Amino acid sequence: MAQDSNKRKKPNILITGTPGTGKTTTSSALAEATQLRHINIGDLVKEKNLHDGWDEEFDCHIINEDLVCDELEDIMEEGGNIVDYHGCDFFPQRWFDRVVVLQTDNSVLYDRLNKRGYSQNKISNNIECEIFQVLLEEAKESYAEDIVVALRSDSIEDISRNVATLTDWVRGWQPAS
Ligand SMILES: Nc1ncnc2c1ncn2[C@@H]1O[C@H](COP(=O)(O)OP(=O)(O)O)[C@@H](O)[C@H]1O
Ligand SMILES: [Mg+2]
Repeated sequence: MAQDSNKRKKPNILITGTPGTGKTTTSSALAEATQLRHINIGDLVKEKNLHDGWDEEFDCHIINEDLVCDELEDIMEEGGNIVDYHGCDFFPQRWFDRVVVLQTDNSVLYDRLNKRGYSQNKISNNIECEIFQVLLEEAKESYAEDIVVALRSDSIEDISRNVATLTDWVRGWQPAS
């Protein structure tokens, strides 16, 4: 495990959280600030057909986790990636140096998902996911506790602050020697 991370010259960051918490907005701003590569897993799954069809109940693609991991292995080994996805338990633990869980106030999140045109059912599922801190629990269960960080993402100021904090962290990161 340590040996794998030793090879990387740049860190890999996972940005996770309930849909609507700002993963894509934060990841793309962070990618611009750090020149790391933003990988939006949802987009990748669609582009490369890394799914097993459409889930009618949850109104989303049924992601094929093995195909996604195979697709990303080489690039993750290289380092310098920001991975953006609303799940985190199926990636190899060794891939990431930092796991960020974005969190948003329920009423703020409701408005964002509503604006996105999600059905009431899909909104309820996601709000419930946020209330029960599903992604934070999943991150803590899947990665070493000291690399998992929860960040608030209610306002534009939160995004600026989170990007600044993470940019500092990236600049200070050094490959293990
Ligand atoms: N911290 C924030 N403050 C204000 N608006 C935000 C914030 N985070 C996200 N948004 C807005 O909410 C919507 C969803 O953000 P997005 O980054 O697509 O979330 P995710 O990728 O987690 O689903 C976008 O319209 C975005 O501009
Ligand atoms: Mg997104």
